[in-house]
Amino acid sequence: MQLVFATNNLNKLTEVQRLIPSHIKLLSLKDIGCEVDIPETQNTIEGNAIQKAEHIKTKYGYDCFADDTGLEVEALNGEPGVFSARYAGEQRHAEDNMNLLLDNLHKKTNRNAQFKTVIALHLNNDLKTFTGICKGEITQEKHGDKGFGYDPIFKAEGYTKTFAEIALEEKNKVSHRGKAIQQLVAFLSNY
Ligand code: IMP
Repeated sequence: MQLVFATNNLNKLTEVQRLIPSHIKLLSLKDIGCEVDIPETQNTIEGNAIQKAEHIKTKYGYDCFADDTGLEVEALNGEPGVFSARYAGEQRHAEDNMNLLLDNLHKKTNRNAQFKTVIALHLNNDLKTFTGICKGEITQEKHGDKGFGYDPIFKAEGYTKTFAEIALEEKNKVSHRGKAIQQLVAFLSNY
């Protein structure tokens, strides 16, 4: 059985391939000849994940799953949310995004935030979604140089270090994406 993971991130692909049953072969976007950006024009994280999975099914005919992630900050009414990648502009620059977020939270005492990942799976004409949430808080300053995106300013609940200061294996155990992937893997394993 073949299943497209709508990503060009080979690290993500290898990681998920290791976890799912071996009779399911994952294909990347490149493998199916999709070299253009897939539209992500919805105003929710769920909407974008579903849009990407449906795009691949409709245009390329493959069963597929796609993920979308956002950081939701309580004191900013859930921003940057679906706009996390381009919070500080279309250049999608992680440093700019973090600086803007820290500025917008300046002097705010409520630093609660959560990462949310939604995976949409299009399989045998059925659509299913899996949601992973990681609660935590935004730090006052950046710490650490591991990871990507907002990792240097996000501390998961129960941790004294940011995601950019802990090992990837540790992050995967508690992260939004890790939790969503665990649900997907459990579903595919029982399929
Ligand atoms: P994507 O949907 O996985 O592309 O994530 C959208 C944006 O959310 C990324 O560009 C990052 O800015 C941010 N993001 C997603 N996952 C993480 C994470 O695990 N750590 C830090 N930032 C993340």
